[in-house]
Amino acid sequence: MVISQGKAQEVFVSNHPLIQHKLSLLRDINTEPKRFREVVHEITILLAYEATADLTTREITVQTPLTQTTSRELEQQIGLVPILRSGLGMVGAMLTVLPTAQVWHLGLYRDHKTLQPITYYNKLPGHTAPDLCLVLDPMLATGGSAVAAINILKEWGTKRIKFMGLIGAPEGVALLRQHHPDVPIYIAALDDHLNDIGYIVPGLGDAGDRQFGTGQF
Ligand code: URA
Repeated sequence: MVISQGKAQEVFVSNHPLIQHKLSLLRDINTEPKRFREVVHEITILLAYEATADLTTREITVQTPLTQTTSRELEQQIGLVPILRSGLGMVGAMLTVLPTAQVWHLGLYRDHKTLQPITYYNKLPGHTAPDLCLVLDPMLATGGSAVAAINILKEWGTKRIKFMGLIGAPEGVALLRQHHPDVPIYIAALDDHLNDIGYIVPGLGDAGDRQFGTGQF
């Protein structure tokens, strides 16, 4: 596996000081849901900058107040695919920088006993797949949900897919690389390990509960 810092390759782990600082706030048990959501939004915008660095553009003509000039615009149709529910917290940030992106929700939850992903919401079939899908899920833990989501997107006809998360576990990164080596991974941190109930350690707890105020973390 190629892990790169600061250069987009197969697995991009950010070493940006702003991201590192903000991640500490997310990890902190005392960070309240409101602040937690704000920081998820801020980190996602910073990661988006990296994950979109190789998007292609086409030439257009623009009339400035002074003259006509050639300029560039994005040429790909981009789909954001938040994995419910914790991926929802990354959507607003992505739409801030990609306001014309489509949003395709995928509902997957982990069975608590088997840790296997179960799909409970998917309205993709029947529509045309965008040129590039960015899968949004803050925690790449076992990797099971990410693999299942990307399977669904490939069956849908998506040619190009990237995964964006906040924290990855080595186990999740390895599983995703094994099943989908063509999908680059962009994360803010690569943590130490998964515990025996599938939580990332040191991690930040349950990203859904912490965003939506539903847990005990
Ligand atoms: N999902 C979470 O929200 N947190 C983890 O640590 C693992 C999976």
